Amino acid sequence: MTDKEKRLAALRSRRWLAPDDIRSFAHRQRLLQMGLRREEFMTRPIVAVINTWSDLSPCHAHLRERAESVKRGILEAGGLPFELPAMSLGEVMVKPTAMAYRNFLAMETEELLRSLPIDGAVLMGGCDKTTPGLLMGAISADLPCIYVPAGPMLNDRYKGQRVGAGTHTKTFWNDYVVGKVSQPEWVALEARMTRSPGTCNTMGTASTMTSITEAMGFSLPGASSIPAMDAAHPRMAAASGARIVDMIWEDLRPRRLLTADSVRNAIAVHMALGGSTNAVVHLIAIAGRAGIPLTLQQYIEAGGDIPVLANLYPTGDHLMEDFYYAGGLPALLKELAPRLHLECLTATGRTLGENIESAVNLDPEVIRPLSSPVVQAQALAVLRGNLAPSGAVIKPSAASERLLEHTGPALVFDSMEDMTRRIHDPELAVDENTVLVLRNGGPVGASGMPEWGNLPIPKKLLEAGVHDIVRISDSRMSGTHAGTCVLHVSPEAAVGGPLALVRTGDMIRLDVPAGRLDVLLDEAQLEERRQQWKPPKTDRKRGYLRLYVEHVSQADQGCDFDFLSGWQEPDEPVIF
Ligand code: FES
Ligand code: MG
Repeated sequence: MTDKEKRLAALRSRRWLAPDDIRSFAHRQRLLQMGLRREEFMTRPIVAVINTWSDLSPCHAHLRERAESVKRGILEAGGLPFELPAMSLGEVMVKPTAMAYRNFLAMETEELLRSLPIDGAVLMGGCDKTTPGLLMGAISADLPCIYVPAGPMLNDRYKGQRVGAGTHTKTFWNDYVVGKVSQPEWVALEARMTRSPGTCNTMGTASTMTSITEAMGFSLPGASSIPAMDAAHPRMAAASGARIVDMIWEDLRPRRLLTADSVRNAIAVHMALGGSTNAVVHLIAIAGRAGIPLTLQQYIEAGGDIPVLANLYPTGDHLMEDFYYAGGLPALLKELAPRLHLECLTATGRTLGENIESAVNLDPEVIRPLSSPVVQAQALAVLRGNLAPSGAVIKPSAASERLLEHTGPALVFDSMEDMTRRIHDPELAVDENTVLVLRNGGPVGASGMPEWGNLPIPKKLLEAGVHDIVRISDSRMSGTHAGTCVLHVSPEAAVGGPLALVRTGDMIRLDVPAGRLDVLLDEAQLEERRQQWKPPKTDRKRGYLRLYVEHVSQADQGCDFDFLSGWQEPDEPVIF
C-alpha cells in the first residue's frame, strides 16, 4: 500500500465503505443510488457540513447558499461533502428560549457525526446558541471540525445615528413607553436595525461566541468578523471547506485545539470584547465536554482584570462592520497578545501567535490598545453571598457606576407573567432605590433560563428620567442589552436557592467591588423561611423539555446535561 492508501484505509468512514461484505455492499449501493460514482466515495474523506439554516432563522438565512461555497472548498481539496441539516436556533423566534435547545443541538450534532460515515465536519451556525451547541456536540464526537460563523448583519443608521440589533430596540422601546417615539415611528422602526441576513451586529452573544470560538482555534483567522453579506464571507466558507480536508488527514481533533490554555485565551477575548454574560455559561459547558473544569472563580482569575478594548455596542458605540474594517478579531488579538497563550494550536495547523503575526489594527478608535481601553470596568464580575451561594454574574462595563455599590428594598416578582402584569402599574411601589427581583426564571424554573434578566424599567421611573435600577434574577440577559442586572443567580429559586426566600421589602445589598450579593437577613430568618418554602409546580410532563429540567445543571456549571458533560471516549457504532 502507498502512504496515501494507508491513510485512506485508516479513515473512520472506511468502516462503512471498505469491507467486502453484504452490509458494506448496501452502503456503497445506496451512495450509488444518489448518483455518486464509486471513485468519489472510495478515494475521498467524507465531510459532514452541519448546517443550521432554516426558513425561520434570519441570522442564518444565507447559510443554505453559503453551504455551496463550503462544499466547493471540500471538493477542491479532495473531500466529499454531505450537507446535514440540524436544528436551527434563531434566538428571537424560538420559545420558551433557544437556550433550552442548545443541548438538543449538541446532542443532534454528536449523534449525526456518530451515526453516519463521517471523517470530519464543517459546522455552520452563528446565532447565539448554535455556536456552543455545534461545538459541544463535535467535541464529544471527537472528529476534526472547523467552524464557519454566519457573520454579522450589515450596519444600519436611523436619523443619522448608528443603530444596532438588540441594543437600540430597547432604547427605542423605552422612548416609546414614555411617548418620545410615536406609534407610526415605532412601526417604521421594525424595518430598521436588522438590515440583512446575519447575526446581531452589536457585541451580543452571537459575536462573543463566534469570536471566542475563533480565538480557541476552531475557525480560520478573521472568520468571525466578516459581515455575512461581504464577498469575503463565501471565500472564507470555501477556504474552511478546503482546510477541513487537510485537518482530517492531519487528524487534528477538537481536543488538540481545546486546552486549558486556549480556554484561558477565550476568557481573555471575552473580556476584551466586552462580550455577553451568556458566554460564561457556554464556555463552561464547552470546556466541560473536553473534561476541562472551569469555575466562575477561575474565569475571573484568567481575565477579570482585562479591560474592554472593542469599542462596540452595548459597551461602546460602534458595530461589527466597523470592527471588521478596523482589522477584526486578528487585530484585537494582536493588541491583547501580551495576555494570550500564543503557542496554542489552531485549525490552520499553526499557532495562534503565527496566525496573527501580520495582523494590523487599522482603527485604534474602534479597537483600543491595552493602554487606552474603552472603559476600565470589566465585562464580567462574579458575585457571591447569602443570595447566591454558588455565584451570580454582572457585566460592570454595561452597568451604571453609581449602582455598583447599592443597598435598597426588594420588589419581588414570582414569574414573568407576574412581572409583566404589574411592572408598569402607576400604583407600583417603586423608586430609583428599589431592587427588582425576578425569580423562577432559571434553567429548571423556566425550562432553559430565558433572557428575562434585563427587567423593564417601570414606566413611572422612565417618566421621571430614571433609566437604570438594580435588577436581580436567576435568568440570563441578552448580550446586546445594558443595565445594572445581576444574572444567573445560583442555585436558582426553583430548586430552593435563597432567591426563593426573598420578600418584598427585604433589604438587598449589591457590592460589585467586593464581589458580594446579600439579602440583609440572618441565617435563622432564612432558615425559618426555608422550612416554609415549597417548590413551584412544574408543568413539564413530557418530551424534550421534561428531559431538560430533569437533567440540566445550574448556570455556574454551564447548564449542560448531567449525562453529557465531561470527557468520554466516543462510542463507535457497531456496523452490521
Ligand atoms: Fe440571532 Fe442576535 S438574534 S444573532
Ligand atoms: Mg442575543
